Amino acid sequence: MLLRSAILAAARNDGLKRLVTYAPVSRNVVRRFVAGAGVEDAIRVSRDLTGQGLAVSLDHLGEDTTEPEHAAATAKAYLTLLQRLADEGLAGGADVSVKLSAVGQALDGATALQHAREICAAAQAVGTTVTLDMEDHTTTDSTLAVLADLRRDHPDTGAVLQAYLRRTESDCRELAHAGSRVRLCKGAYDEPAEVAFPDPHEVDRSYVRCLNVLMAGAGYPMVATHDPRLVAVADERARWYGRERGTYEYQMLFGVRPDEQRRLVGAGETVRVYVPYGDEWYGYLMRRLAERPANLSFFLRAVVSRS
Ligand code: FDA
Repeated sequence: MLLRSAILAAARNDGLKRLVTYAPVSRNVVRRFVAGAGVEDAIRVSRDLTGQGLAVSLDHLGEDTTEPEHAAATAKAYLTLLQRLADEGLAGGADVSVKLSAVGQALDGATALQHAREICAAAQAVGTTVTLDMEDHTTTDSTLAVLADLRRDHPDTGAVLQAYLRRTESDCRELAHAGSRVRLCKGAYDEPAEVAFPDPHEVDRSYVRCLNVLMAGAGYPMVATHDPRLVAVADERARWYGRERGTYEYQMLFGVRPDEQRRLVGAGETVRVYVPYGDEWYGYLMRRLAERPANLSFFLRAVVSRS
């Protein structure tokens, strides 16, 4: 847990960010988890994954934007992506994941909402859905408020709820209604014990409780985990509640357990791969390293072998 907190603290350290971003070795490590730097990389990977029967959710990397121009550029990047997906016949059934902090949540409420609206409208025009990623707990309420606003015009906008937060079971009850797409994940940020379960077993138990609420409800659960036990529980819960395949889906990250992604597709399940692309991969990579110490040693081995 200490190691996880240290890595997540490093994720917000600007000096380290510069060092890691420009270290020649970093690109090789990044390639495992990130499709590439540009929109054409996202298109190439989407084509490959959809060819294997997987669905995609694309994330233009970036977060914690503090400049209005940067927020506008991120929104524009999503519009370009959506147009390219449409050009390539990949837009139908695809999803884009948007972090409100990347489109100006820290600047003022209105900027992020306005950019999110533009992205939702462009997505709807080409048959793609939008899911709002969830960030640290200080933004949960404002993200859910933006979600409620967006859903007035775009009811298929997806929410993300994090099982590590003590509040999440109750949020699941609020959001488990017809037409509501809800991605359930464990949660990737360093949170204080007042708001989040510090014990990983508690997080798993919370995940199962939340899964029960979502599977029993009338919405569309998106089971985002690589944890084999939770995948098995989700399968069992879906059968228990009489859900047909296709009334829920599994989601996993690009580069994590690809064999399991294909196994689930082979079993007739809907599986969506979260595909990040772009230059601003530092925070994303650090959260992936924090999740699994083996990834950290992979990263450090790569650094040592180059020095
Ligand atoms: P856990 O971390 O316990 O891992 C279970 C097993 O999966 C590990 O033992 C390992 O085998 C494998 N595994 C997990 N992570 C790995 C990695 N990085 N590299 C290699 N193997 C790994 N979080 C958030 O706070 N807000 C969000 O919006 C999202 N969005 C999101 C979308 C999607 C599609 C996914 C899959 C995840 C997220 N997350 C997220 C991240 C999530 O909260 C969580 O941090 C990770 O999914 C890791 O948790 P697991 O449930 O996979 O379990």
